[in-house]
Amino acid sequence: MCDTTTTNEFVQKLDDYIDSLTYKKENLIGVLHYAQEIYGYLPDNVQWHIAQKLDIPSAKVYGVVSFYSFFTMVPRGEHVVSICTGTACFVRGADKLKDKLEDQLKIKAGETTPDNLFTLETLRCVGACGLAPVMIVDGQVHGCLNTAQEIHEVLAKYRPESKAPSNQRLQSTLKYA
Ligand code: FES
Repeated sequence: MCDTTTTNEFVQKLDDYIDSLTYKKENLIGVLHYAQEIYGYLPDNVQWHIAQKLDIPSAKVYGVVSFYSFFTMVPRGEHVVSICTGTACFVRGADKLKDKLEDQLKIKAGETTPDNLFTLETLRCVGACGLAPVMIVDGQVHGCLNTAQEIHEVLAKYRPESKAPSNQRLQSTLKYA
């Protein structure tokens, strides 16, 4: 959660960005992108603030946020895992990939794990059809994922234990060997 200092800094940053724009109302999507980069998501109060700054109805801001799947009104986890549901991925097992991911993360698509580590989403073709079925983690494409073990190995790279220094990992491995 943000403290007051951080929140004020975020508002200032957002306001500076909006003030720097020559065409403000016309740049609603760009402003929303920037706000989501700062806040991580677009809660009601941020949408309202943007509406005030751009002098447009808050219903218009809400309409855009709810229309585009890359905007979110709820906080996301540290890592965003997206399953491609485009035609090539669908034909080559995107459904099974989704089932396995839901099983391993113990959440459904659209949800975030209780430890806020992963958010699971679906999206349309990302242009890597030759690697189908594909999932994207924090913008990085991982393809040809057919087995539970392959999926497990990708997720493991994003778990905190895999970020420990290699000698520390070695020690913990030895401890349980
Ligand atoms: S359909 Fe999945 S990358 Fe194109």
